[in-house]
Amino acid sequence: METVKEDNLQEFLLTLPSEKNWDGTPLLLFNETWYPASSIRGAVSFQQNFRAQDSDIILASMPKSGTTWLKALTFSVVSRDRYSPKESPLITAPPHELVPFLEVDLYLKSQNPNLDFPPPRILSCHTHYTYLPESIRDSNCKIVYVCRNPLDQAVSDFVFVRDRVSGIANPLSSSLIDEGFENICRGVQSYGPFWNNVLSYWKASLERPDKVLFLKYEDLKEDIILNLKRLAEFLGFPFTEEEEKEGVIEEISRLCSFDNLKDLEVNRNGVHSSGFSNSAFFRKGEVGDWGNHFTPSMAERFWKIVEGKLDGSGLTF
Ligand code: A3P
Repeated sequence: METVKEDNLQEFLLTLPSEKNWDGTPLLLFNETWYPASSIRGAVSFQQNFRAQDSDIILASMPKSGTTWLKALTFSVVSRDRYSPKESPLITAPPHELVPFLEVDLYLKSQNPNLDFPPPRILSCHTHYTYLPESIRDSNCKIVYVCRNPLDQAVSDFVFVRDRVSGIANPLSSSLIDEGFENICRGVQSYGPFWNNVLSYWKASLERPDKVLFLKYEDLKEDIILNLKRLAEFLGFPFTEEEEKEGVIEEISRLCSFDNLKDLEVNRNGVHSSGFSNSAFFRKGEVGDWGNHFTPSMAERFWKIVEGKLDGSGLTF
């Protein structure tokens, strides 16, 4: 892993390979990862300064893969002895406030952020497993990774970024889709390449199943109850038989459902400290929206590339 002296960071950043993301904003290649230039300071600082505790829970993902949902589910599972679903802090605070991002919230604002939360601390990141701070990999903390069909992830990202950039026409124009598509075929995307991000966690989950739980957005959509049970067991907070009988799992799944969270006042009208509207994190919440934006021949070309990259790993989509 490449390390950087933070005093020389500005100079160092100027030496990094750079590409334009599809929306025109710069991406910088560091540790084999395309970081948005706007948040790379936070990523470097996180990699170099964060010290994990054994009780930490780290939620990892490519952006737009279901991170918000995973945050809500994990927070609810872990804090259920303190709050019933009816009194959950999720009703008045967005998931991203209850579970902050390490690179784009905490370490972007300070090289030494206040991490003095009661254990277990639930934190999230988009950094590839290979480049996580050693203390995360070496401690007993748990990692949950969520991935998603990369074409749905890309569409979700295009819309998210478009809504943030003024002057881009609505709906997604075909030229923007074409540019974005060429980028994802080359792996040039925030925290990409997709295949490196996802494979790093996939391999870690096979080597260390007690440490890394690998989830798929589509599986959560298909059977949230089963996956909530898996999540709770993995984290060391299994549901008791009594809880199962009382319907606690169903209650948590309802609280964290797309329709419920999207309609909460805080998520309809609130603004996240990064400047995003909370509503930007709740769009359609569907599987297969890529079909409304990419043609079958684009998809075929993309999957050929992805299958080549994932070949032999056992990971399929
Ligand atoms: P779409 O843009 O396809 O609707 P992230 O949280 O990683 O930023 O990912 C955002 C995507 O997850 C968006 O996808 C968003 O709508 C979806 N999402 C957010 N909350 C969800 C939930 N509770 N259940 C299912 N999908 C959710």
